[in-house]
Amino acid sequence: MKIAVASDHGGFALKEEIEKHLIGRGFDVMDLGTHSEESVDYPVFGKCIGETVVSGEADCGVAFCGTGVGISIACNKVKGIRCAVATNCFMAEMAKKHNNANILALGGRVLTPGEAAAIVDTWLDSTFEGERHARRVRLLDEM
Ligand code: RB5
Repeated sequence: MKIAVASDHGGFALKEEIEKHLIGRGFDVMDLGTHSEESVDYPVFGKCIGETVVSGEADCGVAFCGTGVGISIACNKVKGIRCAVATNCFMAEMAKKHNNANILALGGRVLTPGEAAAIVDTWLDSTFEGERHARRVRLLDEM
C-alpha cells in the first residue's frame, strides 16, 4: 500500500518521524514535502496530498500542520477527500470505521511522535464498516 505524507513547517518534524515509522512497518511512502522548517503555506500541501490520493497515485494520506486543522480544511476542499483530524486513537478508529477517511490529519504542535504513531496505526489497522455508514459517506461524496 502506498501512503502519501505532506506537511507545512508546523508539521514537518512530526511528518519525518511518522514517515520513518511507516517505512518501518513496510509501507511504500510518498513524501510530498515540505522538506524543512522554513515557513510555507499549508493549503498548498493540503491540495497536493488531496489530489494525490484522489488520483489514485497514493492509496491514502497522512497530513500534518501545527494543529492538523488547517491542512485538514485544505484537504477537504478536494472533491473525493474525507480528511479527519485525530488527537487520539478513538477518533482515528472512528474516522476509518464510520467516515472511511482517506486522509488523516495530525498536529505537530499537539502530539508527541509516540502518540501520533499509535493514532496512525489505529487508523491504518481499522476497517470501514460500510452499511449505514456507506450511505452517509456516499452523501458526503455527492456534496
Ligand atoms: C502555521 O504556523 C500554523 O498556522 C499551521 O501549521 C496550522 O496549525 C494551521 O492550521
